[in-house]
Amino acid sequence: MKEDLLKSLKSLTDDLDGSVQKVQTEAGLSELKATYLGKKGRLTEVLKGLGKLSSEDRPAVGAKANEIKNIIEGRLRSALESLQRQSIAKELAQDTFDISLPGRTEVVGNVHPISQIFAEARHIFEGLGFATCSGPEIEDDYHNFEALNIPADHPARDLQDTFYLKDGRWLLRTHTSTVQIHIMENQGAPVRMIAPGAVYRCDSDVTHTPMFHQIEGLWVDDRTTFGDLKGVLTLFIQQMFGDGTKVRFRPSFFPFTEPSAELDMSCHICAWKNPSCPVCKGTGWLEILGCGMVDPAVFQCVGYDPEKITGFAFGMGLERMAMIKFGINDLRLFFENDLRFLQQF
Ligand code: DAH
Repeated sequence: MKEDLLKSLKSLTDDLDGSVQKVQTEAGLSELKATYLGKKGRLTEVLKGLGKLSSEDRPAVGAKANEIKNIIEGRLRSALESLQRQSIAKELAQDTFDISLPGRTEVVGNVHPISQIFAEARHIFEGLGFATCSGPEIEDDYHNFEALNIPADHPARDLQDTFYLKDGRWLLRTHTSTVQIHIMENQGAPVRMIAPGAVYRCDSDVTHTPMFHQIEGLWVDDRTTFGDLKGVLTLFIQQMFGDGTKVRFRPSFFPFTEPSAELDMSCHICAWKNPSCPVCKGTGWLEILGCGMVDPAVFQCVGYDPEKITGFAFGMGLERMAMIKFGINDLRLFFENDLRFLQQF
């Protein structure tokens, strides 16, 4: 009896090995499990015989039955694992991808050189107490010319210099000096402001674009002198281009300032060392901005009393400053939006 039971137990594992090899699916394995280990399965059938054994034989056969149960469970488990591995391998084989492809990276933009120059200029002027203001780009004749002491017959009004809008009354501002007028019309002295912005001229060649950018500055109170003008602008240039930069004020003419000057800074590309320097043409100086003491005629237009009020103004081109600061030799690069150019700054 005992021998029969032991034989049946052994045949369970032998049979199982044969069946497991034929099963290809997880469902098939579950069925097999039920066949061998289920309530009505083959192991249960064999165990029914245990009751008929003598009490000496029962423990040994019981222990063997447990062992066989563990073996069956173990084989079914590893068969399941191997099926799962196969299906993953199959999926991977079908779903190939190229692991040598570069990863996706975020494209981070950077600040346009003109905006960088403006941010730096603003930082310097705000440190000196200037407020940043703005004015309209579409102007009337009065704010662009008349109030700035540019009479109707002045050459600066040449039709070709300016974009007039249809009715001739409006135009695209040709300089940011217009903002001086707007600010002084709206507030009394003292004024300390800068005004950045786009300006337009009917010009287009290697060194001119129809649109470019300026910063205007205005400092007005009851005792401003040309000394203040020189101090503020020298400090600005030295902070922008380096402490060692030299400046000189050259007499000039602007209708809205008297006296007027142009400010030249020393050429930091050649520092007077290269007589054929392409940037300063060997002179050692670079023209950088126009400035002067506000003309009394301008104060009169905005209702300030020129007997009591003095002030200075200045205007500079941002593109020119960026070209000098970054060593850029073609103005048009600023407007082409070529990333290979823009990413260098
Ligand atoms: N508006 C002048 C221009 O566009 C620049 C300028 C010169 C502005 C002298 C000023 C100044 O305020 O005082 O060429």
